[in-house]
Amino acid sequence: MSWGHSSNPSSEQPSDQPDPSGGLRVQIRWLIRRDMPEVLAIEQSSFQHPWSEEDFLSHLRQRNCIGMVAEFNQQIVGFMIYELHKARLQLLNFATSADFRRLGVGLQMINKLIDKLSQQRRQEIILEVRESNLEAQLFFKSQEFQAVRVMRAHYDDTTEDAYVMRFRLYETASDTLPFQPHNRIAFYDDAA
Ligand SMILES: CC(C)(COP(=O)(O)OP(=O)(O)OC[C@H]1O[C@@H](n2cnc3c(N)ncnc32)[C@H](O)[C@@H]1OP(=O)(O)O)[C@@H](O)C(=O)NCCC(=O)NCCS
Repeated sequence: MSWGHSSNPSSEQPSDQPDPSGGLRVQIRWLIRRDMPEVLAIEQSSFQHPWSEEDFLSHLRQRNCIGMVAEFNQQIVGFMIYELHKARLQLLNFATSADFRRLGVGLQMINKLIDKLSQQRRQEIILEVRESNLEAQLFFKSQEFQAVRVMRAHYDDTTEDAYVMRFRLYETASDTLPFQPHNRIAFYDDAA
Protein backbone atom coordinates (compact mmCIF):
# COMPACT_ATOMS: atom_id res chain seq x y z
CA MET A 1 0.00 0.00 0.00
CA SER A 2 1.53 3.27 -1.07
CA TRP A 3 -0.10 5.91 1.07
CA GLY A 4 2.19 7.88 3.32
CA HIS A 5 2.11 6.03 6.61
CA SER A 6 2.72 8.72 9.19
CA SER A 7 0.67 11.75 10.16
CA ASN A 8 3.77 13.81 9.49
CA PRO A 9 4.58 12.88 5.91
CA SER A 10 8.16 13.37 4.94
CA SER A 11 8.90 16.53 3.05
CA GLU A 12 11.71 16.85 0.59
CA GLN A 13 11.80 20.51 -0.33
CA PRO A 14 11.35 23.75 1.55
CA SER A 15 7.90 25.25 1.00
CA ASP A 16 6.43 28.71 0.76
CA GLN A 17 9.49 30.20 -0.88
CA PRO A 18 9.76 31.69 -4.32
CA ASP A 19 11.02 29.24 -6.91
CA PRO A 20 14.23 30.29 -8.70
CA SER A 21 12.26 30.13 -11.96
CA GLY A 22 9.89 32.80 -10.65
CA GLY A 23 7.05 30.37 -9.82
CA LEU A 24 5.98 28.88 -6.51
CA ARG A 25 8.31 26.58 -4.60
CA VAL A 26 6.12 23.70 -3.48
CA GLN A 27 6.70 20.85 -1.08
CA ILE A 28 6.25 17.45 -2.68
CA ARG A 29 5.38 14.60 -0.36
CA TRP A 30 3.45 11.37 -0.08
CA LEU A 31 -0.30 11.54 -0.54
CA ILE A 32 -2.01 10.67 2.73
CA ARG A 33 -5.59 9.81 3.44
CA ARG A 34 -6.59 13.23 4.73
CA ASP A 35 -5.46 14.86 1.47
CA MET A 36 -8.21 13.07 -0.46
CA PRO A 37 -10.91 15.81 -0.32
CA GLU A 38 -8.51 18.38 -1.82
CA VAL A 39 -7.17 15.90 -4.36
CA LEU A 40 -10.71 15.01 -5.42
CA ALA A 41 -11.60 18.69 -5.78
CA ILE A 42 -8.61 19.22 -8.11
CA GLU A 43 -9.49 16.06 -10.02
CA GLN A 44 -13.11 17.12 -10.51
CA SER A 45 -12.23 20.59 -11.71
CA SER A 46 -9.52 19.28 -14.04
CA PHE A 47 -11.15 16.47 -16.01
CA GLN A 48 -14.36 15.93 -17.90
CA HIS A 49 -14.28 12.29 -16.84
CA PRO A 50 -12.76 12.46 -13.34
CA TRP A 51 -11.69 9.50 -11.25
CA SER A 52 -13.99 8.75 -8.33
CA GLU A 53 -12.63 8.37 -4.81
CA GLU A 54 -12.89 4.61 -5.29
CA ASP A 55 -10.76 4.85 -8.45
CA PHE A 56 -8.03 6.56 -6.40
CA LEU A 57 -8.33 4.08 -3.55
CA SER A 58 -8.27 1.01 -5.74
CA HIS A 59 -5.14 2.20 -7.53
CA LEU A 60 -3.40 3.20 -4.31
CA ARG A 61 -4.10 -0.21 -2.81
CA GLN A 62 -1.80 -1.77 -5.42
CA ARG A 63 1.65 -2.41 -4.06
CA ASN A 64 3.39 -0.72 -6.98
CA CYS A 65 1.22 2.40 -7.05
CA ILE A 66 2.37 5.68 -5.45
CA GLY A 67 0.50 8.89 -4.73
CA MET A 68 2.23 12.23 -4.17
CA VAL A 69 0.97 15.76 -3.61
CA ALA A 70 2.41 19.23 -4.09
CA GLU A 71 1.66 21.52 -1.17
CA PHE A 72 1.91 25.28 -0.85
CA ASN A 73 0.96 27.14 2.34
CA GLN A 74 -0.65 23.96 3.69
CA GLN A 75 -2.87 23.74 0.63
CA ILE A 76 -2.73 20.89 -1.87
CA VAL A 77 -2.02 22.46 -5.27
CA GLY A 78 -1.26 19.35 -7.30
CA PHE A 79 -1.06 15.58 -7.21
CA MET A 80 0.29 12.65 -9.17
CA ILE A 81 -0.42 8.94 -9.13
CA TYR A 82 2.07 6.60 -10.74
CA GLU A 83 3.03 2.95 -10.96
CA LEU A 84 6.48 1.51 -10.52
CA HIS A 85 7.55 -0.98 -13.17
CA LYS A 86 10.89 -2.66 -13.57
CA ALA A 87 12.37 -0.23 -16.06
CA ARG A 88 9.94 2.68 -15.95
CA LEU A 89 7.39 4.77 -14.13
CA GLN A 90 3.88 4.91 -15.55
CA LEU A 91 2.03 8.11 -14.77
CA LEU A 92 -1.67 7.33 -14.26
CA ASN A 93 -3.04 10.64 -13.09
CA PHE A 94 -1.51 14.12 -12.83
CA ALA A 95 -3.09 17.53 -12.23
CA THR A 96 -2.48 20.89 -10.66
CA SER A 97 -5.09 23.17 -9.12
CA ALA A 98 -6.68 25.52 -11.66
CA ASP A 99 -5.77 28.50 -9.43
CA PHE A 100 -2.08 27.53 -9.42
CA ARG A 101 -1.38 26.76 -13.07
CA ARG A 102 1.51 28.20 -15.07
CA LEU A 103 3.45 28.73 -11.85
CA GLY A 104 5.82 25.82 -12.21
CA VAL A 105 3.96 23.39 -9.95
CA GLY A 106 3.61 20.69 -12.63
CA LEU A 107 7.24 21.20 -13.58
CA GLN A 108 8.38 20.58 -9.99
CA MET A 109 6.29 17.39 -9.81
CA ILE A 110 7.89 16.11 -13.03
CA ASN A 111 11.34 16.99 -11.69
CA LYS A 112 10.58 14.92 -8.62
CA LEU A 113 9.68 11.94 -10.83
CA ILE A 114 12.85 12.39 -12.87
CA ASP A 115 14.88 12.41 -9.63
CA LYS A 116 13.23 9.14 -8.68
CA LEU A 117 14.09 7.61 -12.05
CA SER A 118 17.78 8.26 -11.58
CA GLN A 119 17.76 7.10 -7.94
CA GLN A 120 16.00 3.88 -8.84
CA ARG A 121 17.81 3.12 -12.07
CA ARG A 122 14.66 3.27 -14.09
CA GLN A 123 14.99 4.72 -17.56
CA GLU A 124 11.68 6.23 -18.58
CA ILE A 125 8.36 7.77 -17.67
CA ILE A 126 5.34 6.82 -19.75
CA LEU A 127 1.86 8.29 -19.81
CA GLU A 128 -1.27 8.39 -21.94
CA VAL A 129 -2.88 11.69 -22.82
CA ARG A 130 -6.16 12.31 -24.60
CA GLU A 131 -5.96 13.58 -28.15
CA SER A 132 -8.18 16.55 -27.12
CA ASN A 133 -5.97 17.53 -24.16
CA LEU A 134 -3.66 19.89 -25.98
CA GLU A 135 -2.66 21.78 -22.83
CA ALA A 136 -1.32 18.62 -21.22
CA GLN A 137 0.46 17.62 -24.45
CA LEU A 138 2.17 21.03 -24.54
CA PHE A 139 3.06 20.79 -20.88
CA PHE A 140 4.64 17.33 -21.23
CA LYS A 141 6.38 18.37 -24.44
CA SER A 142 7.89 21.32 -22.52
CA GLN A 143 9.21 18.76 -20.04
CA GLU A 144 10.95 16.82 -22.85
CA PHE A 145 8.36 14.10 -23.27
CA GLN A 146 7.79 12.89 -26.82
CA ALA A 147 4.71 11.38 -28.42
CA VAL A 148 5.73 7.85 -29.34
CA ARG A 149 2.50 6.00 -30.14
CA VAL A 150 -1.19 6.54 -30.92
CA MET A 151 -3.77 4.26 -29.31
CA ARG A 152 -6.84 4.42 -31.51
CA ALA A 153 -10.24 4.91 -29.80
CA HIS A 154 -8.61 4.08 -26.51
CA TYR A 155 -11.27 5.33 -24.12
CA ASP A 156 -14.64 3.88 -23.12
CA ASP A 157 -16.28 7.28 -22.72
CA THR A 158 -15.39 8.83 -26.12
CA THR A 159 -14.10 7.75 -29.50
CA GLU A 160 -10.93 9.80 -29.17
CA ASP A 161 -7.43 8.45 -29.41
CA ALA A 162 -4.75 8.45 -26.74
CA TYR A 163 -1.20 9.55 -27.36
CA VAL A 164 1.48 7.71 -25.48
CA MET A 165 4.14 10.16 -24.35
CA ARG A 166 7.52 9.15 -23.02
CA PHE A 167 10.39 10.80 -21.20
CA ARG A 168 13.73 9.02 -21.36
CA LEU A 169 16.60 9.72 -19.04
CA TYR A 170 19.32 9.01 -21.54
CA GLU A 171 17.82 9.80 -24.90
CA THR A 172 19.89 8.53 -27.81
CA ALA A 173 19.93 10.20 -31.19
CA SER A 174 17.94 7.35 -32.75
CA ASP A 175 15.18 7.77 -30.15
CA THR A 176 14.49 11.36 -30.93
CA LEU A 177 12.51 10.85 -34.14
CA PRO A 178 10.05 8.12 -33.22
CA PHE A 179 7.75 8.58 -36.22
CA GLN A 180 10.45 9.05 -38.85
CA PRO A 181 9.60 6.83 -41.82
CA HIS A 182 12.29 4.74 -43.41
CA ASN A 183 13.76 7.03 -46.02
CA ARG A 184 15.69 5.39 -48.84
CA ILE A 185 16.98 8.69 -50.25
CA ALA A 186 18.44 9.70 -46.90
CA PHE A 187 19.96 6.24 -46.66
CA TYR A 188 21.76 6.70 -50.00
CA ASP A 189 22.76 10.27 -49.06
CA ASP A 190 24.35 8.93 -45.91
CA ALA A 191 26.15 6.23 -47.83
CA ALA A 192 27.56 8.73 -50.35
C1 LIG B 1 -1.11 20.12 -17.63
C2 LIG B 1 -0.94 20.69 -16.21
C3 LIG B 1 -0.64 19.56 -15.24
C4 LIG B 1 0.24 21.68 -16.22
O1 LIG B 1 0.51 22.07 -14.89
P1 LIG B 1 1.12 23.50 -14.51
O2 LIG B 1 1.40 23.48 -13.05
O3 LIG B 1 0.23 24.60 -15.00
O4 LIG B 1 2.44 23.49 -15.36
P2 LIG B 1 3.73 24.44 -15.21
O5 LIG B 1 3.33 25.78 -14.65
O6 LIG B 1 4.77 23.70 -14.45
O7 LIG B 1 4.16 24.61 -16.73
C5 LIG B 1 5.48 24.37 -17.19
C6 LIG B 1 5.51 24.64 -18.67
O8 LIG B 1 4.62 23.75 -19.36
C7 LIG B 1 4.05 24.43 -20.50
N1 LIG B 1 2.61 24.57 -20.29
C8 LIG B 1 1.92 24.32 -19.15
N2 LIG B 1 0.59 24.53 -19.36
C9 LIG B 1 0.47 24.93 -20.65
C10 LIG B 1 -0.64 25.30 -21.43
N3 LIG B 1 -1.90 25.33 -20.94
N4 LIG B 1 -0.44 25.67 -22.73
C11 LIG B 1 0.81 25.67 -23.25
N5 LIG B 1 1.93 25.29 -22.53
C12 LIG B 1 1.75 24.94 -21.25
C13 LIG B 1 4.69 25.81 -20.53
O9 LIG B 1 5.87 25.70 -21.30
C14 LIG B 1 5.04 26.03 -19.06
O10 LIG B 1 6.05 26.97 -18.85
P3 LIG B 1 5.68 28.56 -18.85
O11 LIG B 1 4.50 28.73 -17.96
O12 LIG B 1 6.94 29.19 -18.32
O13 LIG B 1 5.38 28.92 -20.27
C15 LIG B 1 -2.22 21.46 -15.76
O14 LIG B 1 -2.60 22.36 -16.78
C16 LIG B 1 -3.38 20.55 -15.44
O15 LIG B 1 -3.52 20.08 -14.31
N6 LIG B 1 -4.28 20.30 -16.42
C17 LIG B 1 -5.49 19.52 -16.20
C18 LIG B 1 -5.19 18.09 -15.87
C19 LIG B 1 -4.45 17.36 -17.00
O16 LIG B 1 -4.72 17.55 -18.16
N7 LIG B 1 -3.51 16.49 -16.59
C20 LIG B 1 -2.70 15.71 -17.48
C21 LIG B 1 -3.41 14.44 -17.80
S1 LIG B 1 -2.46 13.45 -18.96
